[in-house]
Amino acid sequence: MANLHGEVYYPPEEVVARAHVQDWEKLLEEAAADPVAFWEARAKELVDWFEPWERAFDDSNAPFYKWFIGAKTNIVHNALDRHITTWRRNKLAYIWEGEDGTRRTMSYYRLWREVNRFAAILKSMGVEKGDRVTIYMGRLPELPIAMLATAKIGAIHSVVYGGFSVEALAERIEDAQSRVLITADGGFMRGKIVPLKEIADEAVRRSPVVEHMVVVRRTGHEVNMEVGRDYWYHELCQLPVANGTVETEVMDAEDPLFILYTSGTTGKPKGVLHTHGGYQVGIATTLKYAFDLKDEDRWWCAADPGWITGHSYIVYGPLILGATSFIYEGAPNYPYPDRWWRMIEEYGITILYTAPTAIRGLMRFGNAWVNRHDLSSLRLLGTVGEPINPEAWRWYYEVVGKERCPIIDTWWQTETGHFMITPLPVTPLKPGSATKPFPGILAEVVDEEGNPVEPGVEGNLVIKHAWPGMLRTIYGDPERYKEQYWSKYAKQGYYLTGDSARKDEDGYFWIIGRVDDVIKVAGYRLGTAEIESALVSHPAVSEAAAIGVPDELKGNVIHTFVILREGFTPSPELEEELKQHVRHEMGPIAVPAKINFVESLPKTRSGKIMRRVLKARTLGLPEGDLSTLED
Ligand code: PRX
Repeated sequence: MANLHGEVYYPPEEVVARAHVQDWEKLLEEAAADPVAFWEARAKELVDWFEPWERAFDDSNAPFYKWFIGAKTNIVHNALDRHITTWRRNKLAYIWEGEDGTRRTMSYYRLWREVNRFAAILKSMGVEKGDRVTIYMGRLPELPIAMLATAKIGAIHSVVYGGFSVEALAERIEDAQSRVLITADGGFMRGKIVPLKEIADEAVRRSPVVEHMVVVRRTGHEVNMEVGRDYWYHELCQLPVANGTVETEVMDAEDPLFILYTSGTTGKPKGVLHTHGGYQVGIATTLKYAFDLKDEDRWWCAADPGWITGHSYIVYGPLILGATSFIYEGAPNYPYPDRWWRMIEEYGITILYTAPTAIRGLMRFGNAWVNRHDLSSLRLLGTVGEPINPEAWRWYYEVVGKERCPIIDTWWQTETGHFMITPLPVTPLKPGSATKPFPGILAEVVDEEGNPVEPGVEGNLVIKHAWPGMLRTIYGDPERYKEQYWSKYAKQGYYLTGDSARKDEDGYFWIIGRVDDVIKVAGYRLGTAEIESALVSHPAVSEAAAIGVPDELKGNVIHTFVILREGFTPSPELEEELKQHVRHEMGPIAVPAKINFVESLPKTRSGKIMRRVLKARTLGLPEGDLSTLED
């Protein structure tokens, strides 16, 4: 059990030689002895503050923990403003390639100018400190620009992933009460146009709180522009109001920076709230230590800025460290399966950070697509989002990394803000294990009572001590925050991750997966309740249940069970119509792989659907305890 797969991979000498942290075990020990002191030292080392803190950590109102109490800061000062007075003003912040081959580069100075312009535009629309701005776009440089502009003036951004559709967007606008929506005419994906503006128009009809829409032109196809509400970004930029600079708002360390909606066990998506102070310390430290980011690197985090991975490691983290990032707009296999490998060669990418599902997808096309490119610029590889199966790990390591590049398997969540369990470049690796908690993070695998389990035994993954980048609450619903994350182990004060895991005899963590009603499809996080409510909003559906079923490529796919209303009969056409309906309401990522028409659903006496039973039946597994089953 010391090593589930019988292999340990040691880092190559040249990686060790340049690694920021040399003695991993020692640092783990030191930081665990006093996590607050560890983070406080990083806060002094890696970011600037307008005014220092009185205390680094406050747990007097647990679980509403606070970090760097009394300190004044703004993450945009650290990500942008401070670089403009140094040699970095001329360094590239972003290199961007569109799916259609368009290229753009942006120096720190240029990015700073753009952010000032966008900030001036937002101010002219009446956006003030604390206001929410929703951003719904493809992977364009204007996405980070819009986020930074919002944060610069002290407003709160809520980015909605561009792959979501009408109802998902409408719900998020409504919950955040955003008066301004920033979007684009469309985006390119697999050679087709994603009609973002059209979706935004329909969402705003459902959530009419939006007063202004700023539209970035990307595809150039014709879109509806409502006079007095919708404005082209490029036209606004020509107005006198967009000139000059905008003061970066002085924020309290605990002031909100953004809301990011994610799926939970029940009901509507949760607005996970992150703040300016602790978050910037957490992301800068983890990125520097785990990926050893240096000035000469070209960092490519292939996630979408619309997810936490993009927020922390495309936008804020790399900019705080003054790094150069690459962003690619489109699909990995468009127009050919070597698109990624061509760009790594072309741009000299040194670190690639992506998801197991993307690795498995590219692996399917065979090695020849990889081997026709010179990937010798790479020195580190990373993964995130779901457990990586050892087969994909080995392919990534051998075929992409040529056995020279350690694989940094980072376990974390929207809620945690930054990496929580991850190797550093010097860590001995075991394929499929995210290794050990990051320095200053105390994680454990516990039983139902909160006692640590024996090595090799499955249990709940918990975090034992607060950390700087943690979520502070669920926007507008502090009770749900307490209930969801802190109630199960309230006595011990542990944070419940919702994941199950095992630890081996070397103390390495092996993440097994979600134990709640969250389904990870191709690394995307979806709630069964969201999919079910999208189905039930169709006139033919009376009740629905969704489960995750293991899938070789996507990790999981969605299977649903649907009871039809009187007067509707099951048919392949209706199945297709329901899938299209889910696509229209939620987006392509939520479309069920299979819809089963059923007469009844297994329920508890109190009427709760027992998805566990559906899952066991689908997979042909034992159904477990059925004593609470009504019928
Ligand atoms: O189940 C874990 C899985 O992704 C969940 C968090 O999803 P989300 O909030 O969308 O954030 C994803 C990007 C940080 C976790 O509860 N997960 C994330 N990383 C890993 C992982 N599972 C196994 N190994 C990982 N490296």
